[in-house]
Amino acid sequence: MTGSFTGKVALVTGAGQNIGRATALRFAAEGAKVAVVDIIADTGNETVGMIKQRGGDAIFVQADVTRAREVEAMVAATVRAFGRLDCAFNNAGGAGQYYVPLVDCTEEKWAWTIAFNLTSVWLCMKYEIPQMVKQGGGAIVNAGSLVALAATPLLGAYTAAKGGVLALSRAAALEYAKSGIRVNVTCPGAIRTHKHEESMRILGATAAPPAMPMGRPGEPREVADAVVWLCSDAASFVTGTAFTIDGGAFAQ
Ligand SMILES: NC(=O)c1ccc[n+]([C@@H]2O[C@H](COP(=O)([O-])OP(=O)(O)OC[C@H]3O[C@@H](n4cnc5c(N)ncnc54)[C@H](O)[C@@H]3O)[C@@H](O)[C@H]2O)c1
Repeated sequence: MTGSFTGKVALVTGAGQNIGRATALRFAAEGAKVAVVDIIADTGNETVGMIKQRGGDAIFVQADVTRAREVEAMVAATVRAFGRLDCAFNNAGGAGQYYVPLVDCTEEKWAWTIAFNLTSVWLCMKYEIPQMVKQGGGAIVNAGSLVALAATPLLGAYTAAKGGVLALSRAAALEYAKSGIRVNVTCPGAIRTHKHEESMRILGATAAPPAMPMGRPGEPREVADAVVWLCSDAASFVTGTAFTIDGGAFAQ
């Protein structure tokens, strides 16, 4: 697919590390101009530096994806810099390493988890879609998780939020199918990131340690490959799907 995104503009939230960074690098390697969005400037700028070092084009946009005004400004900054928006990976999210029975989940933690994982995705689409409609199309990938399809005990709020991402994405896919906008959801299983070892330790101590049929977790670049494919013309008839990247975990 090398060069297949030449002339296109991609936006990736949470692109300062791990899956988001790997996807921003992959989009750039395919020729896209990339808006690297993160709440943390240092790591976001580091991703931009990595892209430029490899001959790509990128800008850093600092935004908290849970704040409507910042999300609106994030899209505006991207369009101001690059003139358009073709692909968006609404990736920022996470469980926050907070594993508790749902009766012990505090209202504060519940609200944070829903805002960070679900409201953020709605806000991103709310401001990305009008620009894509104006252009006659686009491709959006929202970060789900295997928990959207198969629940994980002790992660009730995160499971509900990611299930919501899938439901919302399906609604968006149908609402904008005739506008040429495709909306899909990635459902990664365990991916090797900074928090992987800690998650495995906590979940391994519960009744339901994550399944790894291939005997290893996935790598961030393996999620990035799927995201970029979902945004590519090769996936032109793919919308409203939950795309598992889990080494076979969901097949068990
Ligand atoms: N890592 C996994 O095993 C795994 C598995 C399934 C799904 N996912 C999902 O994939 C996505 C990325 O996971 P990851 O492990 O790479 O995440 P991560 O925690 O390593 O990175 C998240 C990035 O988002 C940024 N961020 C945090 N809050 C933000 C905010 N309010 N606004 C903007 N940016 C913010 C962080 O600074 C960081 O750079 C998440 O949605 C996660 O739920 C991850």
